Amino acid sequence: MLITNIGLLAGIDTRHSLYLRGHDMRSLEMIDNAWLLVRDGKFEDWGSMRSVPEAYAQEPSADAGGGTVIPAFCDSHTHIVYAGSREREFIDKINGLSYEEIARRGGGILNSADRLAHTSEADLFAQAMERADEVMHEGTGAIEIKSGYGLTVKDELKMLRVIARIADSVPMAVKSTFLGAHAVGRAYTGRDDEYVAMVCNDMLPAVAAEGLAEYVDVFCDRGFFTVEQTDRILEAAAKYGLRPKIHANELDVSGGVQVGLRHNALSVDHLERAGREEIELLSQSETSATMLPGASFFLGMPYAPAREAVDAGAIVTLASDYNPGSSPSGSMRFIMSLGCIKMKLTPAEALAATTINGAYAMGISECYGSITKGKVANFIITRPLPSFGYLPYAYTSPLIKDIYLQGAKL
Ligand code: NIG
Ligand code: FE
Repeated sequence: MLITNIGLLAGIDTRHSLYLRGHDMRSLEMIDNAWLLVRDGKFEDWGSMRSVPEAYAQEPSADAGGGTVIPAFCDSHTHIVYAGSREREFIDKINGLSYEEIARRGGGILNSADRLAHTSEADLFAQAMERADEVMHEGTGAIEIKSGYGLTVKDELKMLRVIARIADSVPMAVKSTFLGAHAVGRAYTGRDDEYVAMVCNDMLPAVAAEGLAEYVDVFCDRGFFTVEQTDRILEAAAKYGLRPKIHANELDVSGGVQVGLRHNALSVDHLERAGREEIELLSQSETSATMLPGASFFLGMPYAPAREAVDAGAIVTLASDYNPGSSPSGSMRFIMSLGCIKMKLTPAEALAATTINGAYAMGISECYGSITKGKVANFIITRPLPSFGYLPYAYTSPLIKDIYLQGAKL
């Protein structure tokens, strides 16, 4: 299929980069007034409307009407499998309670775990599919989904099976992460180390036996899991080939970045409290510095130091963190806008952070995340824009016209 009359074709990477770091994040190419050829669900070729090759003239075509084409978003950190919602805590927050105070009162993650325990797998799947559908229609073409509201062997498996069913049901690429150490389950209150032992000895083998996760995550932060406990879990997970993608430095300078790097994490995520030392270490590594501005926005926390991290040469990724407690939104367009407005990324950097680097942080950037020959044709067509910067600028305007996943219109 030939897409014609593209006002701006953006997010092109002819170098087959696996990620873009530092100032290279500005290097995705853009061409004006373009066509794009998609064949067998993959990007095949593109060029200027001034010269459409004769051979392509017979292809079925679609007119982009002068709109901008970008790669579909790659959201590398979400928790979209959850039961119900938590807007009551939202009101508590409005009335002055902090995220940690709510958690200490038995709200937060444990509240979601209670709801999930009483929700059937079928119902959980139906609820999560609504969110998967929602984010696809907002332009997400690849997504990582975590467990972590089960907190028992049975319910963690239930969550992970739901993730597997979503993967089989949607045209998005779906990656699954085991987050048994999201909080200490209720049955283990005050017995953190026993819970950690259960994660290592019972949960991990069960997850691995069914092949339900590719990555492992730990909430390594004040009031949740210590560096030492994280070490134990990551070591146990490595035996099953699960690579870490961890929650680090959201609430405190937790040591999460360092423990993640020691275990060759694919990404360390959140980083609201990351300082000079963490930025320096990340910029020397191939670990994605994944930042979640939706959580900063929703919880009123500081924003992670994206500008500094890009300037230092890190691989900076932005993701939605879509979850019921700290970021009840999966809009990657909004995340891109927050990246620009609050974190001072340029629109080009924010595009790289939400596409190719997101794909890298899920281990799928060979096939997703940019307009590159042979990559899966996941892309968005917008209404005509005055320039590329209009996309993050006009942050609530309904600019997305069409979404194509695997080369087919959604
Ligand atoms: O990434 N910080 C830990 N986990 C999630 C929030 C989970 C929840 O509150 O339900 C996060 O922000
Ligand atoms: Fe998260």
